Formats: sequence, structure tokens, C-alpha cells
Amino acid sequence: MARHGTILVIDDEEIMREILDALLTREGYGVRLAASAQEGLDLARAVPFDAAIVDVMLPGMDGIAALDELKKLDEDLPVVMITAFASVENAIAAMKRGAFDYITKPFKNDEVLVVLRNAIERRRLVDENRALRQNLQAHSHRFGEIIGRSSRIRQVFDLIIQAAPSRTTILINGESGTGKELIARAVHTNSQRSDRPFITVNSGSLPPDLLESNLFGHVKGAFTGAVYPKKGLFELADKGTIFFDEIGNVPLETQSKLLRVIQEREFMRLGGVETIKVDVRIIAATNVDLRREMEEGRFREDLYYRLHVITVQLPALRERKDDIPLLVLHFLDKYGRENNKPGLELAPDALDLMMEYDWPGNVRELENVIERAVVLTSGPRIDMDLVPDHVRRTRAFQLPQFVLPPEGISFKEVITDFEKRLIESTLEAAGGVQKRAAELLRIKPTTLNEMIKRYDIRARRRRAGSTVAADEPATPAPDADEPDPALVRTEK
Ligand SMILES: Nc1ncnc2c1ncn2[C@@H]1O[C@H](COP(=O)(O)OP(=O)(O)OP(=O)(O)O)[C@@H](O)[C@H]1O
Ligand SMILES: [Mg+2]
Repeated sequence: MARHGTILVIDDEEIMREILDALLTREGYGVRLAASAQEGLDLARAVPFDAAIVDVMLPGMDGIAALDELKKLDEDLPVVMITAFASVENAIAAMKRGAFDYITKPFKNDEVLVVLRNAIERRRLVDENRALRQNLQAHSHRFGEIIGRSSRIRQVFDLIIQAAPSRTTILINGESGTGKELIARAVHTNSQRSDRPFITVNSGSLPPDLLESNLFGHVKGAFTGAVYPKKGLFELADKGTIFFDEIGNVPLETQSKLLRVIQEREFMRLGGVETIKVDVRIIAATNVDLRREMEEGRFREDLYYRLHVITVQLPALRERKDDIPLLVLHFLDKYGRENNKPGLELAPDALDLMMEYDWPGNVRELENVIERAVVLTSGPRIDMDLVPDHVRRTRAFQLPQFVLPPEGISFKEVITDFEKRLIESTLEAAGGVQKRAAELLRIKPTTLNEMIKRYDIRARRRRAGSTVAADEPATPAPDADEPDPALVRTEK
């Protein structure tokens, strides 16, 4: 049966279908025949094929349109076009749209078989490659330089694997430090463009004129100072990838020129008249909500939709905290090597702190914290004291767990008791300074002061026996009632 694979043949001429059927079957291929594009597409939706042979001239939907549709169903399907000798141009157009090869009529049997063998061989390689990568990904916790095993980051890996091989524009959205540039590079490395340039454009840092002359280049004399002609970044990135960092910062006037490059893959140098064609893959990154920018008129709508073909949404680190231990290990290793300190480890309570922290600066912030600790540590074990203050201070607040006694409890009393204890703890954390305590609780100092008086709170005596700060009530209050431990229990 289908020893060598299954081939879809779409041709409206019965005699051609018969010839190909006989030839391919004899060679050990499985063959399915279709007399129209529509019939062929129905088959392709129902059965997976290893290759397709499609006549360019078909009644109704023509062969080129069929090719487009087949590719939508299966991006890697090798499609061989058959064309009358007179219409080689059509065949070339088809090649540009992703056909694997073409054969002109009348053809020799051998020619068909050789092309088909190559097609199927390529298909096999692509499949193997994909399986290999997916396998790698399932068994390791990294994808190139990108570390992570949380389901959120795995989804990102999958998207890269799927999107990298094509030329599709990709938009990467994520907070600062989530790894946008890292992802952009990974897309490039995993594409066929990997041995061509990857060029980063820092969209926001230049005034519009300079940005445009950087992007598109200029001819001699285009403006004062343009003594020599200059190639722009788009030309330098030809056959490679161009990465627009912070695309939201590109000024509106430059946005329209960008749109043209994305649509037509062509542009003119500043001051020039010649149209320059390039083959570039465009990746853009943003940490702002581009849709909002668009709605508020700061970003062109057409450009927005052009960029939004494939969007990679990078999760904030706090949304994938299960990756923190892995990232810590990775950075310990990286900076351990750099600083000649092998075999470093992080004390468990230091790791606890890092798990509790919110990481507004995401992976970059974590990386900096670990680098600092590695540089400062004198032994192989990194303890809590090397964790920066701001990371420590935000230990997550946890509400006590309430266990109701069977006879019930006075709501008012519990709330009052809770308020008292919260104020006491905060005063303690603020070193007894009421103004600071009020800041921590986000209330007005006068409000706090009133509550302190109302509840007759005094700063808890510290173990060291230090005296109460000057702005505390002078009169010592009777010992505050300890709350019933059956009622209030703080979960640790
Ligand atoms: N998943 C990850 N695994 C390993 N390293 C990471 C990961 N994500 C980010 N990093 C590291 O964190 C740092 C910041 O990453 P990157 O520059 O790609 O972020 P960004 O989103 O472009 O930030 P910004 O918005 O500030 O430009 C880099 O040093 C990068 O190597
Ligand atoms: Mg960046």
C-alpha cells in the first residue's frame, strides 16, 4: 500500500489523473484523486497527505488558490504544481507562494518521481525536526536561553516553534523585563533566517527624522550633513529579522512608512526615488497596551492590525512563580561562573522571600538580585541577609484564619480586636514612628493617631528593651487583652 507516503492529485483532466494514479501506485505511493480544487481540499481536510500534485489550470478555483488553501491546512505540505509549458510564469508565481516545485507538461515519469521523492524527503526532515524540538522541550526546562517550565511559558515555547519558520509578523507584549527581546531572538534563531542578521531598532530613543534615516537610509545630499549615501537598517536586515523594540514609541508619521514596508516589503531611501525591495521578518515588542494607544489615536489602526497577526503575550514573573526556583538556579550558575564561585546555593528562607515577592521588574529584576548576591557572598551559601531590603519588606500580608466558636461571636469585637492588632504590628514595623506607620497602612496620620488614642494602644515593648518613640502616647495602657487563640490564628 502506501509504502512511501500518500499523495493528493488534483487535476481536472481525467487522462492525467489516470496516468499519475498508475505511475504513483506502481511506485508504492498511496494516491487520492480529485477533479477540482474543491474536491481536493475536502480530501485534504479529511486525510493527512505527505505531498500534493496540483494542476495550475483548474476550472473554478485555480491551482494557485488551491495551493494557498492547502498551505493553510498544512503549512509544511510540499505541493508540486503541474503546468502547461506555455505558462511557466504561473509556476514561478506558485513557487513564490510556497509551492515545493513544478513540472511542465508533457512530463517524463522519472521527473515526477524524482521531484516527489525530494518533496517527501523534505517533509520527513521538517517533521522530524519538529518532533525533536517538541521532545526536547517536553524533557527540559529551557528553550534555548529561555528558562521556564510553567504552563504559561510552555505555551510561549509552542508558539515560537509554530511561528518561527514562517515570515509572519510577530508582536510580543509583556511588562518590562519579562524577556521580550529574548523571545524575539529565539524566533530568529529558530527560523531559516538564523544565519542572517538580527537587527534591533530602539524605536523610542531617536527623534523622528533620525529614526527614519536610520531605518530607510538616505541618498547623498538628502539633508544637510548627508555627505555620503547610507544604507538603512531595513537593507541591512535583508533576508534576516528586524526587531522593533517599544514599537508604541514610533512617531505617527514614521508609522505610515512602516506600514508600507510591512505591506509591500519595499521603501525608498530618504531623498531617493528608487524603490528598494527587502525580504525581512518583522518582530515588534511593546510593554504598553497598543490597543489603547490605538483607541486614543497615538497608534495607527492599520499598523496595529498588521502587527497583530501573531501575538505572544509574555506572562509577568508573578504569574508564573513556579519558575522562580529554576530561574534562580540558572542565574546562580551563570553568575557563579562569571565570578569564579562554583557550587553556589540559596538558603531556603532566602528562596521563600523570593517566592513571596511580587517582582515588578520581572526576570530582569530577579537576575539583578541574584547577580548582586553572588558578587557579595563570601561562602557557597547565599543567606537571607543578601536579599535586598525591598524584596524582604514586601512579605505578603496574610489575613488570619477565623475559626468560629459554636456559640458565635460579636462581629464588632472581632473587628476592633483585629484593628488593634494590625496597628500594633504596623507600629512595631515602623519602629514606633506613627507617620511611617500611617504611610504603611495608607491612612492619614491624624486618623491613625485617633485610633491609637481610641484603642489606647502603646507600642509593643521591644525585646531589646528600647524605649517607646517620642510620638507615642505617654500614658502606659493596661495590658491589651490577648485575643482568644481559638478565634484568631495567623497562618504561617
Ligand atoms: N525566561 C527567561 N529565562 C532566562 N532569562 C530570562 C528570561 N526572561 C528574561 N530573561 C533575562 O532577563 C533580562 C531581561 O530580558 P529582556 O531584555 O528580553 O526583557 P524585555 O522584556 O525586553 O525588557 P524591557 O521591556 O525592559 O526591554 C535579560 O537578561 C534576559 O536574559
Ligand atoms: Mg527589551
